[in-house]
Parts: sequence; structure tokens; C-alpha cells
Amino acid sequence: MRQFEVLAVIIIAISSVSADDRNASAVFAERIMPIFNSPDPSSCVQCHLSSVDLKDYIRPSSRDTFLSLRDQELIDVKRPRESKILHLIAMGESDPDSLAKRIHEQNRKAEYEAFATWIESCCKDTDLVNAPTQNDAASVGPAKPLEVVRHARKDRVLDSFVRNIWSQRMRCFPCHTPGELDPDNPMHAKPIERHKEFVAQHGAKMNIFKETPEKTLRSLAASSRTHRKDRLPLINLENPLQSLLILKPTSKLPAKGDDGKIGKPSSQIPVSHMGGIKMHKDDHSYKAFAAWLQDYAKSTSGEYKNGESLPKDNWYPTQHVVRIKGLTDWPNLATVQIFVHRWDTETESWSKEPVAFTQSKVTPRKIVNGVLFVLAQDDSRKELESTGETLLPGKVQLRLHLDHEDALSSDPTLFLNANPPDATAIIEAEFNQGFKNADIVEADQVVHHE
Ligand code: HEC
Ligand code: HEC
Repeated sequence: MRQFEVLAVIIIAISSVSADDRNASAVFAERIMPIFNSPDPSSCVQCHLSSVDLKDYIRPSSRDTFLSLRDQELIDVKRPRESKILHLIAMGESDPDSLAKRIHEQNRKAEYEAFATWIESCCKDTDLVNAPTQNDAASVGPAKPLEVVRHARKDRVLDSFVRNIWSQRMRCFPCHTPGELDPDNPMHAKPIERHKEFVAQHGAKMNIFKETPEKTLRSLAASSRTHRKDRLPLINLENPLQSLLILKPTSKLPAKGDDGKIGKPSSQIPVSHMGGIKMHKDDHSYKAFAAWLQDYAKSTSGEYKNGESLPKDNWYPTQHVVRIKGLTDWPNLATVQIFVHRWDTETESWSKEPVAFTQSKVTPRKIVNGVLFVLAQDDSRKELESTGETLLPGKVQLRLHLDHEDALSSDPTLFLNANPPDATAIIEAEFNQGFKNADIVEADQVVHHE
């Protein structure tokens, strides 16, 4: 027989043994166990970066797995094809991200067919279907609490990326923002020229920010999976603060060589950046970058164990700027956190929780300029998302905290407002947009607390 004929005979032989004739255990051993034993994540990883996997729904024997799934109503014994576990596997079909959908399609289909076949063969076994409820049986499903599962979802991570990193991209204009360059805008003629020169010199890696946040995050994530000896990754999952994404913009130009020309940029410690310093360590963008990078690393590695370990992740970027003048006694480059508390006319007191915050450095002219992030409390979050992230004008108290202990160097995401403020100021804030329209606090409005 020729080769394909042999193959055809084998295929016919296999397919004639339909699921009906074979017992569930055999199907389980053949099709479910390989999923359980695979070192690779299941198709759930398309949307769940960690904390839940199809393996969590499999127990070492066919019987135990079936009974656990049945008792948790993940299997519908009357209509096997309608089982909830199959719906979970099929969820990947509804992803609006068509590329991700395609990448995981083959895996998803194989998992779906394996479970559907096995469930059907189980449901034909009346003894098994009618077995009593397993009161003491181990349950199936994620070992982590649901809030951790939710936190590690790709859509949540992306939403956070938009607020913390994508929102700051204009600080990288025009060098890394091809999508923001508009050939119809005469003001962009020079920036377009510069961007083009940089790409000619340094290549496509200049285009860090793509047309959409989704594409940007995907390309950053992909590049963080390839390890290279000669450079740090853009996102460093082992050590998030040593990601090029945050080290480059906080690093100086390369030193000049003997010939007086600027040297080659370094992408290892000590890092240098051909763009020069574009964001200061511990300014508001740095804090947002650091917070996102740390959270991303923990979310992908499944490091979060319980709800208490999750960061609040409730910062919303705004264009509101506060400028505090005349901080003459404070050292240059000292880091200051500013919390905004609103006057509540009903209770005649300042809001207990801050409504916004920023972090910045004392400049040599003894000024602090801060771009505010709104801090959404859990109940106001939905409202914020629908109204846009802005603050209404009104009477506010600014509470200023100096980083006396240099606590931020070990944890840049820290809030210093557990301690009493070093200074306060009360103003009628307008909360307009941009540096030109900052709310200004004059030196004599600032009350220093000893
Ligand atoms: C297309 C994206 C996507 C895929 C793929 C996906 N899920 Fe989900 N999953 C979601 C979304 C969105 C939610 C929250 C909304 C909901 O409950 O419908 C969720 C919620 C969950 C929850 C928690 C329900 C809750 O109350 O928050 C579990 C458990 C879960 N998925 C398991 C899985 C498993 C197991 C797989 C793989 C077999 C999987 N998911 C595949 C998007 C996905
Ligand atoms: C004036 C132009 C300019 C600005 C603005 C600028 N950069 Fe750069 N950046 C460069 C150039 C040129 C390179 C390539 C040479 C190098 O690696 O330093 C670079 C490289 C990088 C790299 C390394 C890319 C890679 O794959 O090797 C990162 C990451 C980076 N910049 C981040 C930023 C961020 C984030 C900002 C904004 C907060 C920023 N840069 C602002 C010019 C700029």
C-alpha cells in the first residue's frame, strides 16, 4: 500500500471508534490529561494573564473531574453541549482583539473539542451521572480569589496602561509617537522631519507608541519575552524598575568621546538615552510608569495572592496643573507629594480621602509644578469613566508631603500621606487645562507645619 492509503485506513479505523463506544476514562486519559500535564498555559491566557487556567478545572481522574464540574454546575448533564465549562473555553471567540483571537484559536478549538467529547461520553454513563453529590470533594476552578482573577485580566491591565503610560506619551513626542504626527498640521512639519531622521539613524525601534494602546502594549509585551545579553528588555518582568521603558527617559545623553562627539547610547546599566532626560525620577509620570510596570509584572507572574495584596489602581490622568511658589526652605530636587482635599459644604470639613494627587520635584527656583491624577474612590469610578477625568472648580486644601526618609527610592509607588503634611494651602481652584492655566499658590498662601 502506498503511504496515504495506510494513513487513510488508520484514519477510518480511528474515526469508527466514536466517543459513544469508548468509556469516559479513556477519552479523559487521551484528551484531557495532556492539557493538564502541558507546561504551556491554556487558551485562557488570551485574556487572563495569570491566576486562572483550564488546568484548574481538571482533577487527576475522569470521575473526580466530572463530579466536581457537575456539582459546581459547570457541566449540564441534560444538555452536555451547553455546559458552562464549554462556554468558558469558547469565551476567546468573543474577543474584540482579532489578532489575539487568531493566535489562540487552534489551542482553543482543541481544548473545546476535547472537553466536549469527554463530557458527552461521561453523560452517557448513567451510573456516573447519577452518582451522589461529593460533599467532601475538592472543588475545581481558580485557587485565587475572584478579585485577583479580575485584576489579572488583560482588559484591566490594558485600561491601566492607558491611564498610566499611554496618557503620558506626549512627553515622548515626536521621537517615539509616529501616530501623533499629522502631515496636515503645519506645526508638525519640523517634528515629522526630526522623527524621520531618528528612524533613519536608529531604526523602527523608535516607534514605541503605535496607533493604539492595544498595539503598543502588545509590542512591548512581545519584546519583553525575548532576552538579549546586550540590552535590558523594554519591560523587565524580573525587575520592573530596570525596564528600558522607564530607564531610557530618565537617563542622560551618552557622554562625549575624545573627539567631542556624543558617544553610543547604552541599553544596559548605566543606561544613556539619545533623547536625554525626558522625565525626572519621581515626577508624576515616573510614578505612573513605575506603578504600571510593577503591577504588570506581578499580574503576569501571578504573584498576587489575595485582595489585600492588590494595588488600588485608581489614578486617572488629567491636564490640571497646580503650581506652588516660594518653597524657599525646601531643598532643590526634593520630592514632594501633593494631595487635594475638597471642601464639603454639608459636613463643613475637608474630604477625608484625597480627590487628586501629584508628585513632583522642587525646582531651583523653589517652585513645585504638578500635573494632577484624579484618585477615583470605588463608588465614583464609574461616574468618572463616563464624565471624563476632570475636576470641577471649588475650594480645596492642598496637603504637601516631603519625602524625608527617601522612602520613594525603594518603593516609588508609595503614598506619603499616612503622616501629617509638611505644609498646606487653601485655594479656590479653577482646575483648567495645561501648564499655562495652572492653579497658582503664592508663597504667602502656604502654611508650613513644624
Ligand atoms: C476573550 C477573553 C476571555 C477568555 C479567552 C477567557 N476569559 Fe474568563 N473572563 C473574561 C471576562 C471579560 C470575564 C469577566 C466578565 C464575565 O464574567 O463575563 C471573565 C471571567 C472569568 C472568571 C471569573 C468570573 C468572575 O466572576 O469574575 C473565570 C473563573 C474565568 N473567566 C475563567 C476562564 C477560563 C477557565 C478560561 C479559559 C478556558 C477563560 N476564562 C477564558 C474573558 C475571557
Ligand atoms: C528628542 C527625542 C526623544 C524623546 C522626546 C524621547 N526619546 Fe527615547 N529615544 C530617543 C532616541 C534617539 C533613541 C534611540 C537611541 C537610544 O537608545 O538612546 C531613544 C530610545 C528610547 C528607548 C529604547 C528603545 C529600544 O527599543 O531600544 C526607550 C524605551 C525610550 N527611548 C523611551 C522614551 C520615553 C518613554 C520617552 C518619553 C517619556 C522618550 N524616550 C522620549 C529619542 C527620544
